Amino acid sequence: MGENSGWFENTVFYEIYVPSFCDGNGDGIGDLPGVTSKMNYLKELGVGAIWLTPFYPSPLVDNGYDVSDYFAVHEKYGTEADFDRLLEAAHDAGIRVIADMVLNHTSTSHAWFLKSRENQEKYRDYYIWREKIPNNWESFFDGGAWEYDEIRRMYYYHAFSREQACLNWSNPAILEECKEILRFWLDKGVDGFRLDVINFLKTDKAAFAKDNPCDDGIQKHIYDKNQKGVREAVAGLSAFVHTYPDAFLLGEIGDDDLQTIQSYTGKGLLDAAFNFNLGSMEKWDEAYLAEQVTAMEAAGINPTLFFSSHDMRRHFSRLCSENVEAAKLLALFLLTAKGIPFLYQGEEMPLADVRIESSQDLQDAQGRYAYEKMLLLGKTEEEAFGYARERTRDYARGLIDWDLQREGGLQELYQSLLTLRREHEALRTGKYGKIAMNGQLFYFERIGRREKIAVTIDFSLTGMISAGYGGNPVLLEIKGGNGCMGLVEKLV
Ligand code: GLC
Ligand code: CA
Repeated sequence: MGENSGWFENTVFYEIYVPSFCDGNGDGIGDLPGVTSKMNYLKELGVGAIWLTPFYPSPLVDNGYDVSDYFAVHEKYGTEADFDRLLEAAHDAGIRVIADMVLNHTSTSHAWFLKSRENQEKYRDYYIWREKIPNNWESFFDGGAWEYDEIRRMYYYHAFSREQACLNWSNPAILEECKEILRFWLDKGVDGFRLDVINFLKTDKAAFAKDNPCDDGIQKHIYDKNQKGVREAVAGLSAFVHTYPDAFLLGEIGDDDLQTIQSYTGKGLLDAAFNFNLGSMEKWDEAYLAEQVTAMEAAGINPTLFFSSHDMRRHFSRLCSENVEAAKLLALFLLTAKGIPFLYQGEEMPLADVRIESSQDLQDAQGRYAYEKMLLLGKTEEEAFGYARERTRDYARGLIDWDLQREGGLQELYQSLLTLRREHEALRTGKYGKIAMNGQLFYFERIGRREKIAVTIDFSLTGMISAGYGGNPVLLEIKGGNGCMGLVEKLV
């Protein structure tokens, strides 16, 4: 086992959605040289690590989450040499790099799938094949999860689009294959991985015998996730990854249940779970925020702190009604709360949602599937678009326009908050002291080894806070049109 310094608990991450971050060669698509060209920007912003979404060869049905070759770089995003340069530039800038790794499924264009559908012996059980559809499971992208394959004349299981066939994790060969993939990127020098939908691994054949329950026609995903054996699979990946000193293993856990989230982390498992308890908030609700923070603290979870990602609408639009003052308060929370912050590209600018005006604007697989399904059900084009518009994840995926001048001081605030977090151990890893919500005034304390810091946030935006009231040194203050709305004080 390598020594792990726990650097990730002291780090602010920045998610880079490769196709839309920065276009280096002017073809309209973000790429790896584009990312490299922004390394100084990221360094000045003050982030400690970047998470790169999949950049591997892929038919791009789900924007790269349908990998057809795990050992190379998609030609749209650059070359392997471009990746090496990116890694070197990041490390020179003191920024670590984690790679998104999709091990739950592969593209149906992956060589393993092509051989499996031809029933080649070695690959026969790499995927989940059945003579008949064994259950009512639906894909997380709408529609049935079983697809008939004309070549093998059997059905295969796909939790996402039909072009993303799920690997059969009850076959021990899969773990061995995956280790080779991880080895390849670790040997190049990546600092860790974000394991995509890792609690969805299909590890238990017996679970396929059970139908998922439905509530008001909506399927509840019960038996198709958190199967018996997922933890062992994660342990196998973790044991391998941690033979590399200091490698970080983050796993996306699609579940809000705190005990479930907790059960995948800890020694020998994931270093941290990418959990959605805060991130998935649909409307701003400070009482919910305080409640979740308190519950996660009680459950002993070191949560991921984010309000935006490539899978949801941008929080500037979704939670802040595009008000920069509100965005400042969410930044204050994200960068002073306990957990591991994950900023999403452009939230610091701030960027708003892309407008989705017609079915032509639906790029994302989840949106397109929803649209198709509704048309098949006989809905009008307008109804189908209305439904798909709620489901599509295109909102946060627009290519960033780096030439646009942005006013309002949000970026400067992110910089100050990142500096503050770097300078104060209490803000990075300190436990919570008092947590209180009084009306829309949120107060919490962070207790470090040598200091105690208090954060007060006025989510009513009415300037309720009187800075300096208690005579404590003020570390940071956010003033708005109405007075002081956010305050960080040093209590001890
Ligand atoms: C994760 C990714 C999402 C993708 C899905 C299937 O949730 O974040 O973008 O569609 O996994 O791979
Ligand atoms: Ca490009």
